[in-house]
Amino acid sequence: MTAFIRVEDVSKAFLEGSLERRVLRGADLEIRRGEMTSLVGASGSGKSTLISLLAGLMLPDSGRVVFDGDAITDMDDVSRAELRARRVGIVLQSGNLIPFLTATQNVELALELGGQRDGARAVELLTELGLGDRLDHLPRRMSGGESQRVSMAVALANHPDLLLADEVTGQLDSASAERVLDIIFDAWRRRGLTVLFVTHNPELAARAERRLVLDRGEVRDL
Ligand SMILES: Nc1ncnc2c1ncn2[C@@H]1O[C@H](COP(=O)(O)OP(=O)(O)O)[C@@H](O)[C@H]1O
Ligand SMILES: [Mg+2]
Repeated sequence: MTAFIRVEDVSKAFLEGSLERRVLRGADLEIRRGEMTSLVGASGSGKSTLISLLAGLMLPDSGRVVFDGDAITDMDDVSRAELRARRVGIVLQSGNLIPFLTATQNVELALELGGQRDGARAVELLTELGLGDRLDHLPRRMSGGESQRVSMAVALANHPDLLLADEVTGQLDSASAERVLDIIFDAWRRRGLTVLFVTHNPELAARAERRLVLDRGEVRDL
C-alpha cells in the first residue's frame, strides 16, 4: 500500500548564533491513510519542526515531503498554502486563534480560507465540541481547555484529511487534556482522518495505534 504521508531523507538545520544546529538528520517516515500516530521526543528534539514540515509551513534543507502522492517540497508557496487550507488541520502548542475574533468568528475565518460557504457549520462544529455556550467569547475569556477545543474546531472546519496536533494538551490539567484527546480520537473514528499528535505525556502517547519517537534527528517506531 502506498503511504499517505512520506518523509524522505529530510534534513533541517537552524542557526543558533554562528553555530548550525542540525535538528533533523535524514529523517524518514511513512504514514498510511487513516493511521492514528503519536510522536514523543525530548524537548528540542525537533517535533514541532517535523510538524511544520508536514504542514508545509516550513521547507526542509534537503529531502522530500510527499502528501497523498504530491511532493509538497516541490510546490510553490501558493499551492502549499492552498493544500494546507483545504486538506490539513493544524493545532499548535501555542494555540492558533485570532485574539480579537470570537470562537465562532475564528471558525468562520477558517471556513472562508478553505473556500467553504456553509454558514451554519461554525456553530454546529463548536456545539458538537461542547462549546455551544462559548460561541461569542473571545479566546482570552475562555479556559485553556475551551480555547484548545476552539482551535480543534478551526482545525476540523474544512474536513481535513490530515490532523496535526502539537502538544495541544501540554498546558492543560489531566482532565482537560483527556477531553481534548478524546475529541481528536472521536474525529479520527468518525471522519476517517489521518492523525499525528505530539505529546510529552507517555500515557497519552500510548493511546495511539502507532507510536513514534524523534531521537537524534531521526524518527523511529517505539
Ligand atoms: N525557526 C527557528 N529558528 C531557529 N531555531 C529553531 C527554529 N525552530 C526550531 N528551532 C530550534 O530547533 C530545535 C528543535 O526545535 P523544535 O522543533 O521546536 O523541538 P521540540 O518541538 O521537539 O521541542 C530547538 O533547538 C529550537 O531552538
Ligand atoms: Mg515543540
